[in-house]
Amino acid sequence: MTLRLSPWLKLALAWSAGLATVGVGGLAVILFGYFDVTASTPHPPLIAWATHMTMQKAIRRNAAGMPPPPRFTAANVQHGFALYDSHCAVCHGGPGVPRAPWISGMTPGPPFLLDTARHWTPNQLYRIVRHGVRMTGMPAWDQTLTRTDVWDVVAFLEALPGYTASDYTRARAAETAQPSAPSPPS
Ligand code: HEC
Repeated sequence: MTLRLSPWLKLALAWSAGLATVGVGGLAVILFGYFDVTASTPHPPLIAWATHMTMQKAIRRNAAGMPPPPRFTAANVQHGFALYDSHCAVCHGGPGVPRAPWISGMTPGPPFLLDTARHWTPNQLYRIVRHGVRMTGMPAWDQTLTRTDVWDVVAFLEALPGYTASDYTRARAAETAQPSAPSPPS
């Protein structure tokens, strides 16, 4: 006796079998230690695309419900500069400022942020800086910086596309001469 299946049922069975094979295969790769977790090898293109896309979509979604950002003053930008220079430049560099040589051993590597404000809104930058990006080496700063500090860093990132190497050097000199006032706790 032959079993007669509708074309839709056949398709559904084929899909289920395919998905189960992928699932079992994926689990085997994990359980038998075949997944490459070394930071010295770049992500395969599919993983790189999936993680980057996941991050972009999640940040956009998480920032969507936030109230409008505060207005930034020159004092916010200067204090944000001081925080950026001491906390972030090591990984992200700045105009005329190289990144630490060891970042070439990070996967994914931290990008320069010279024009990051053209790709992200202030609220999205706030989310990235305050909460970090899991599985990338981008730390969450909510344990170390106050909310006001994080907004000041965002104020600096917003101003960064207009900074030249000499602006950056001048801001460093101003900071050495007269450190900007720390933010009130928040
Ligand atoms: C230990 C290195 C490290 C430090 C320190 C660090 N970051 Fe990052 N950051 C990263 C990495 C790695 C990424 C890439 C994340 C990714 O690919 O999704 C990143 C991503 C970002 C992004 C998103 C860039 C984009 O366009 O996708 C922003 C904005 C950012 N960092 C801001 C900061 C700020 C501001 C600080 C300091 C308060 C900071 N980071 C400190 C490693 C670092």
